[in-house]
This record gives sequence, C-alpha cells and structure tokens, in this order.
Amino acid sequence: MMKHLTLALSLVALPAFANPFHKGDFAAGKQLHEAQCDGCHAGRFNGDPARIYTRPDRRANNPDQLAQWLTTCNANLGNNLFPEDELNIGTYLNRTYYKFK
Ligand code: HEC
Repeated sequence: MMKHLTLALSLVALPAFANPFHKGDFAAGKQLHEAQCDGCHAGRFNGDPARIYTRPDRRANNPDQLAQWLTTCNANLGNNLFPEDELNIGTYLNRTYYKFK
C-alpha cells in the first residue's frame, strides 16, 4: 500500500509533458512562420497574426497540444514541412508566446 502511494506521488511530481521546443532553431522557425503561417492566422484575427497565440481561449495549453497543432496546420498547408521545421517553428512559438517550461 505504502509503496503504491509513493509511486503515485512520484509520478505526480514529474512534469506532465516533456517539452521538445527548447532545442529547435529559433531564427529558422521565425522565418518559416512568417512565410507560411502568419498570413492565414492574421486573416482570421483582424490582421493581427499574434492574436491567435495570445487570445485568452487559445487552444494549445501544453507542449503536446502545440505539437498537435503544428501537425494539423502543416496538413492545412499540404504537409510541406519536415519534422525539423515543425520543431523550429515550435521553438519560435514557445519562446515568443507559449512559454511552456
Ligand atoms: C489555411 C489557414 C492556416 C494556415 C496556413 C496555418 N494555420 Fe494555424 N490555425 C489556423 C486556424 C483557423 C487556427 C485556429 C483553429 C481554432 O481556433 O479552432 C489555427 C491554429 C493554430 C495553432 C493553435 C493556436 C492556439 O490557439 O493556441 C497553432 C499553434 C498553429 N495554428 C500553428 C500554425 C503554423 C505553425 C502554421 C504554419 C506552418 C499554421 N498554423 C498555418 C489556420 C491556419
């Protein structure tokens, strides 16, 4: 019984999601994001491309969800990004807006 409790507590203490978005290339991600992503997002938020990431009810609330959105929007674009591009864009977005640990 005690052993189970200790295990449960140590699992809770772990961060819920490992964040891969610390090790990508910020500058490369920023450039790609401006070229491929800002236009469509701005079109939906009154011309402000940052708004989609700063709105109070934004969708991505942890690194896992951010990764899912990168994949979803990449599919919107016809999957022309490599996983490395997604990592770089995620690094740019995380450092600029999301600030996930
Ligand atoms: C064709 C239009 C379009 C393009 C191009 C597009 N997106 Fe999106 N994206 C959307 C829409 C629409 C939403 C919001 C959906 C919602 O709120 O339910 C969204 C949401 C997101 C979110 C979630 C934001 C939040 O609320 O936290 C991320 C992250 C994202 N996009 C990343 C990207 C990236 C990176 C690219 C470029 C590689 C990109 N998107 C290109 C339309 C697009």
